Amino acid sequence: MMIYLDNSATSFPKPAGMAAEMGDCMEHYCGNPGRSGHRMSMMTGEKIYQARRDAAAFFHIPDASRLIFTKNTTESLNLALMGLLGEGDHVVTTSMEHNSVLRPLEHLRSKGVSHTIVTGSGEGLVSADDIEAAITENTRLVAVTGASNVTGTIQPLDDIGRICAEKQILFLVDAAQLAGCADIDAVRLGISLLAFPGHKGLLGPLGTGGLYVDPSVSLTPLLFGGTGTESRSRVQPAEFPEGFEAGTINAPGIIGLGYSLRMLQKVGVETVEVYERELIRYFDEMIGSMDFVDLYGPAPEGKTGISCFNIRGMECEEVADRLNRDYGIAVRGGYHCAGLAHKTIGTWNTGAVRLSVGPFNTRRELAAAAEAVWRIGKKR
Ligand code: ALA
Repeated sequence: MMIYLDNSATSFPKPAGMAAEMGDCMEHYCGNPGRSGHRMSMMTGEKIYQARRDAAAFFHIPDASRLIFTKNTTESLNLALMGLLGEGDHVVTTSMEHNSVLRPLEHLRSKGVSHTIVTGSGEGLVSADDIEAAITENTRLVAVTGASNVTGTIQPLDDIGRICAEKQILFLVDAAQLAGCADIDAVRLGISLLAFPGHKGLLGPLGTGGLYVDPSVSLTPLLFGGTGTESRSRVQPAEFPEGFEAGTINAPGIIGLGYSLRMLQKVGVETVEVYERELIRYFDEMIGSMDFVDLYGPAPEGKTGISCFNIRGMECEEVADRLNRDYGIAVRGGYHCAGLAHKTIGTWNTGAVRLSVGPFNTRRELAAAAEAVWRIGKKR
C-alpha cells in the first residue's frame, strides 16, 4: 500500500460503503433516470434527486434544481464561461487560476471576450482591491479560484463577492480545491456560479462534478440533446437542471457522490478543515526546518491541506519519482496544469512538488513523508 498524499488530484481512499452503494445501484436498479416510467428508472431518478439535494445542502443552496451535475470541474467551468460570455464582455480573473479557467478564456478571445489577469502575491494571495481596480464598464464576470491547486492559498471570497454585488457583476468561483476542505456558503458569499468536483474534497467517485447557478443568472447549455422532457421539440428545454444535463448522466457515480456527501456532512466540513490544517502544519514545520528545502505559499492558516516545496538542486519530478519508487509515497511534481500560478510564486523555471492531504491521512504518514524528504535531500 502507498502513503497517498495526492488528494488535490483526486481523494483516496473514499468513504467506507460508497463503493457498495454504487455497486448496489449497478447490480440492482440502474435504469436510465428521467427517461422511462418503470420502477428501475424511477428509483435511479430518486437517488439522483437525493444526491442533488445533498450537494445543494452542502453549499447552503436553497433550490437544488439550480445544481447541475457534470463530469468534473473543467466541464462545469466551461459550461459557465461558454454559457455566459459573448462578444464585448470582459472578465477579471487571477494568475492563480488553473488552466480550466485560463484556457477557455484564451479560447473566448476569438469570440470577442477579453480578460484581465490580476497577479497574486508571492504566496499566491490575490487582493480584492486589485480585482476591483481591474473592473471596467464592460466587465460581466469575475472568475476566481477558491483555493489554489498549487499552494492551497485561500482567496478572500467574502471581499470579492461584496465587490461583485456592489457593482452588479457576476461572480464565478472555481471550488476545485476548496469544496469539502472548508465550508462554502454560496448565498452568503454572493456567488453567482459555483463549479466543484465530486471526486476531490467531497470524496466521491471520479467522473463527477457540478455547477450551481444562482436563480438570477441565465445560461446557455454546453451540450444539446436528449433531456427526457419535451421530446417533440427540437429546441433545447430551458429548465434546470435537465436542460443542462443532456444525454445519459453518470448515475452510479452521482449516487456514490450523494453517499460521500452524507458521510462528510455527518463528520462536518469544519472538522475536516481543522484536521487537515493541523496535518499540513505538522508537515510544513518538519520540512521547513530542513536547510535544503524551499517551501512556497502561506502559513497553514491561509491555505488548505497542501504543501508545495522543492529540494534545492533537484528537479521536482525527480523528488516526486523518488518518493514514489523508494518510499511508496504518492505526490504530484511539476506544474499542476497551472503555469501562471507557478510564475506567480516564483517556480516558473522549476515547477514544484505538491503534497496534499485528505481526511484519512495520519500524522504518522506525514512524519514518514517528511523523513523521506530528509533522506532524499541528504543524499542529493
Ligand atoms: N487539477 C488537479 C490537480 O491539481 C488534477 O492535480
